[in-house]
Amino acid sequence: MARYAHIIGWGKFVPPNILTNEDLAKTVDTTDQWIRERTGIAARHIASAKETTAIMAVHAARDAIEVADVNPAEIDLVIVATATPEYPFPATACLVQDALGAERAGAFDLEAGCSGFMYALTAATGFIRSGIYNTIVVIGSETLSRVVDWNDRATCVLFGDGAGAFVLRGSDEPGGVLASILGSDGSGGELLMVPAGGSKHPAGPETVLSKMHTIKMNGREVYRFATRVMASASRQVAESAGWSLDQIDLFIPHQANVRIIDSAARALKLPPDKVFVNLERYGNTSAASIPIAVCEAIDSGKIKAGDHLVMVGFGAGLTWASCAIQWSAPKPGVIAPPRAAVSRLRYGWSSIKSIGSRLSRRVDAAVSQLIDTLERKTPEE
Ligand code: COA
Repeated sequence: MARYAHIIGWGKFVPPNILTNEDLAKTVDTTDQWIRERTGIAARHIASAKETTAIMAVHAARDAIEVADVNPAEIDLVIVATATPEYPFPATACLVQDALGAERAGAFDLEAGCSGFMYALTAATGFIRSGIYNTIVVIGSETLSRVVDWNDRATCVLFGDGAGAFVLRGSDEPGGVLASILGSDGSGGELLMVPAGGSKHPAGPETVLSKMHTIKMNGREVYRFATRVMASASRQVAESAGWSLDQIDLFIPHQANVRIIDSAARALKLPPDKVFVNLERYGNTSAASIPIAVCEAIDSGKIKAGDHLVMVGFGAGLTWASCAIQWSAPKPGVIAPPRAAVSRLRYGWSSIKSIGSRLSRRVDAAVSQLIDTLERKTPEE
């Protein structure tokens, strides 16, 4: 029997601190008018020192789990799509798995730039359709503000922070993620990158002084690439799902630049009411942009059960990716207070258990060391 991957939960988190175009114009040579006209962005959310990629991912995932009404112990896998992980290693997904109390789950990060969430959704769908796993949490989380050069007006106006998450579950009912297209063209890798911090240019005084840990971008070339792939990847995925373009109910593109979105919508002949845009308030949140947009589209009543959705991303790599989804989840009601209280209790208990595991590991190590020392000191008989 064929298996299908349905989206049964969704959640988002954006840091409360907002940076407007006017705020930016006080520190770099730009204007609100230039940013709005060239990008469509008016403001972006910026993470505080305490709001890291993992913390934001946990907030978004907990909301998604709440909507899905799933016990974290049932989760088989946690995938975090991010270009701004908590550390080079361990994977951010492992920190999230621990904070969720998803004790049975495997966890890994996936890096495909701003296409990351579409890649992760496709990977999760593959795990479910092949019968390997049944319940998967997919998260896009980014703290791009940490890798932006705040003196470079060509890039610092574009990006923002945030996280979005889906819970996917397998079922024999047709629907959910029906088709995906993944693409990559590494010959364009240098068009959008953070050059240092990896094995080629490890962190050192020189890399820091020359700002090699910040985003470097050829905006014009990325723009040309994006307008080319957005429409073609969307067309291909709709065709692969067996839909004509006029059967698309809502197009949810990566939120990078409203001119790129308009150009894709024109090429696909989609009217404005079928195109979801929220970048004016968030800027480009990379792998988080599509799940955040989906949450807002649901909240504003733009997605209902049975709808045909096309989502498409593009970004560093260069990469692009699209998914065709037949939405199958009904709009959830308000989460009842007793259920919310049970969840709080559950997360509280799993963090106590996590602290317990760390402590017992330390005690274990200390006792083993003591035994070793005693053994070495005891003369052989
Ligand atoms: N404020 C004012 N002027 C700015 C500016 C800013 N924030 N940023 C750049 N400029 C200037 C440039 O210096 C240039 O000046 P010059 O003509 O004197 O050299 C002028 O504006 C035009 O620059 P240009 O790069 O041609 O502008 P553009 O219309 O291509 O818009 C981007 C620039 C970055 C908005 C656009 O190229 C873009 O969106 N590219 C895609 C980026 C993207 O989506 N990246 C993420 C991918 S996931």
